[in-house]
Amino acid sequence: MDIKKVAVIGGGTMGNGIAHVFAMNGFKVNLIETQQEFADRAISTITKNLDRMVSKEKIDEAKRNDSLANISVHLDIADGVKEADLVVEAVPENLDIKKTVWQAIDKSAPGHAILGSNTSSISITKLAASTNRPEKFIGMHFFNPVPVMKLVEIVRGLETDDATYTAVEETSKKLNKIPVPVNDFPGFVSNRVLMPMINEAIFCVHEGVATAESVDEVMKLGMAHPMGPLRLADFIGLDVCLDILNVLYEGFKDSKYRPCPLLVKMVDAGKLGNKTGEGFYKY
Ligand code: CAA
Repeated sequence: MDIKKVAVIGGGTMGNGIAHVFAMNGFKVNLIETQQEFADRAISTITKNLDRMVSKEKIDEAKRNDSLANISVHLDIADGVKEADLVVEAVPENLDIKKTVWQAIDKSAPGHAILGSNTSSISITKLAASTNRPEKFIGMHFFNPVPVMKLVEIVRGLETDDATYTAVEETSKKLNKIPVPVNDFPGFVSNRVLMPMINEAIFCVHEGVATAESVDEVMKLGMAHPMGPLRLADFIGLDVCLDILNVLYEGFKDSKYRPCPLLVKMVDAGKLGNKTGEGFYKY
């Protein structure tokens, strides 16, 4: 199936990055937000990131302008998805919100449209069941910052069919990304491996093994990670890390995924990382 028109639902950190890479690679993108103010913020972030790519000579001015021209903003799901070949949902990681959004998308998207969720932890099979086309439903999991990170983790739900998988795999390659197939289990592969490492790093601080700075230095200098696990946790959002750990803990019923009490306390205090100006570090 030839995907040309894409609807991206949600213009937050992940949604604006996803819209950015589709638009930059020639797709027509409808970016759907709930309020004009949020949509304006998303377009201004995309513009800033495209300008940075121009200043680093990764793209030229014409490409920047074409990319922005490929994006149009919509404040209504029905209107924004009605001609889409692919819908990518990147709304907050909350099952009830996602289900409501998917029911609205399912009502208005064309019959041939593929439905992709950028969820980082919620079951694809469960989200698919809130639509009438679970065979066309798939996880399309991008990584932050989306314009930079090469991976798309493609998550097959219980009923995802081969045609849907192949179309999403080919589309990911057209975005200059590397698709990696995984099956639908809690945390998929990315967060099943990443989150226990972040949680263990938080336990090191909690138990006084080392400071946050020292834990990060060990992992950066000793393991060649581009940023330490605690800086990365701040970057992802401590609330998001906690939600994902809870999905792993509930999903496997295994105490090895229990969230560190320090993480819970920091989220309770509203110290969520970069987005609130403070987490393990101050911003
Ligand atoms: N848009 C476009 N380009 C961007 C960008 C953006 N939003 N953010 C950074 N860049 C580019 C910069 O222009 C720079 O380009 P050059 O190499 O050509 O100079 C490059 O990325 C590196 O950026 P910086 O020099 O500013 O900073 P850095 O070298 O410290 O790298 C980083 C920043 C790319 C974020 C790097 O630290 C990194 O890779 N960190 C790990 C990120 C990671 O693990 N992400 C996954 C998180 S998990 C997730 O997203 C999913 C989930 O389910 C939780």
